[in-house]
Amino acid sequence: MAIKFKSTVGSIISEKAEALVLPVFKDTKTLRGSLDVIDKATRGLIKNLLLSGDFLGERYKTFMLYSQGTLSAKRIVLVGLGKKEEFDLDVMRGAGGKAFQHVRDLGIKTIHLSEDLLDAKEFSVSNLLEAFLTGGGLGVYQFRDLITTGREKIKEVDECVIVSQKKDRTKIIEMVLRQVSILREAVFIARDLVSLPANKKTPAMLALRAQTIAMNNNLQCQIITEKQAQKMGMGAFLAVAQGSREPAKIIILEYIASRKFGPPLVIIGKGITFDSGGISLKPPDKMEQMKDDMAGGAVVMGTMQAAAQMKLPLNVVGIIPATENLPGGKAYKPGDVLTSLSGQTIEVISTDAEGRLILADALTYAKRYKPKAIIDLATLTGACITALGDYVAGIMGNDDSLLNSVKSAGEKTGEKVWELPLWEEYFDYLKSDIADFKNVGTRAAGTITGGMFLKKFVNDTPWVHMDIAGPTWYEKGKPYIPKGASGFGVRLLVQLLKDWSK
Ligand code: BES
Ligand code: ZN
Ligand code: ZN
Repeated sequence: MAIKFKSTVGSIISEKAEALVLPVFKDTKTLRGSLDVIDKATRGLIKNLLLSGDFLGERYKTFMLYSQGTLSAKRIVLVGLGKKEEFDLDVMRGAGGKAFQHVRDLGIKTIHLSEDLLDAKEFSVSNLLEAFLTGGGLGVYQFRDLITTGREKIKEVDECVIVSQKKDRTKIIEMVLRQVSILREAVFIARDLVSLPANKKTPAMLALRAQTIAMNNNLQCQIITEKQAQKMGMGAFLAVAQGSREPAKIIILEYIASRKFGPPLVIIGKGITFDSGGISLKPPDKMEQMKDDMAGGAVVMGTMQAAAQMKLPLNVVGIIPATENLPGGKAYKPGDVLTSLSGQTIEVISTDAEGRLILADALTYAKRYKPKAIIDLATLTGACITALGDYVAGIMGNDDSLLNSVKSAGEKTGEKVWELPLWEEYFDYLKSDIADFKNVGTRAAGTITGGMFLKKFVNDTPWVHMDIAGPTWYEKGKPYIPKGASGFGVRLLVQLLKDWSK
């Protein structure tokens, strides 16, 4: 499943290859670098193609040429980058995705690339390479674990070889390859888990998976059982869990790089393995999609592995409250009043607003770590999709500097976020006559009232809430994110941790 990234020293002319991939700007007039080298060796193959008009380097368009023995590589696969003025690293990721998909669909298993992919002075050679390989690696993801027939027809790229001319570049290339591989594996952890149906990822199974990740990567893992949660007084979390016969778990992963880095950053992910709505049952249309309601938790698992494998110089704790939300004879009901771990009481208006309930106790629990900051990720509200669409996460928080870090990480990784306000007057919607507050307001500002609810459990710790209801699942694919589970959040969080640790 995993592509092996390798580097080699040599010339792209004499390197034996099934497919040599090259990106091209739109309307390229003078060929430079690798393109020029290949063009000369192939007696003008590329120039002639561009002149013919059959391929002009349009963004994400691909075109394959046979080298006809003029090179050691059998095929040249060109991928368009679009106009140079509109180019950025996300275009580079998309081009990588499209190029890798093209080669994969040809049934070819090994991709060759030249280290210096193109000449775009604003970006370093290694940043361009990293973006292209990130997009390529992520773009060929497919979830095929549960298909048993016709497996032999599944096409997969096994290997990608980076050819560089100079030996002294090897170290830098290998560093890039390592980062790309780690990130790719982390995103795939999230995508795989989110893709799984609820019968194959119960809270207990998630806990096992977390323990395996911990064992393989030297993380600490602790699982809080329902019994322990009861002792602690996690009344909000347990209320959601009580309708299900699957034992609920709170999964904790700790990456402690060194005590000298001080208190950790805590990342919390909503882990509802299936959200039926509970007694406030959801309509049947598309209910199957609610297997993805643990995407926040999946992102936390992937991120924790990446932090450990990258040996980032900071401490991070991941917390995943995991349970099903089902109706049943023992299920919690609208009107119930819950006592949360914080001691605050909550009147349940809708049992379908369960995410904020389990997060409330997780946020309170997080305080034990005296964290420098808390970030939570949750597929919390359908309203967030109404507001921002399918590809953007809503963010809210109490600390401008942390919000800015999240925005900046979002820009760098192409995982788009947009801030919504948490003005105190929004809290009016959550006022209750018989408890400290309600779990749901009116239809107004549905995403913000979700954020306001969570805020009541945070107090002074710098905190950001990310509502990832939209971008968790792509109905339609994007160049380097195939349709289905996107793993949205992993790349943003890893970038944030990297920036934070500087
Ligand atoms: N998991 C859902 C949110 C959701 C809905 C995510 C659709 C992705 C697609 C969440 O638990 C939920 O049901 N939220 C309610 C909140 C409402 C009762 C205030 C919603 O969005 O309808
Ligand atoms: Zn719900
Ligand atoms: Zn939910």
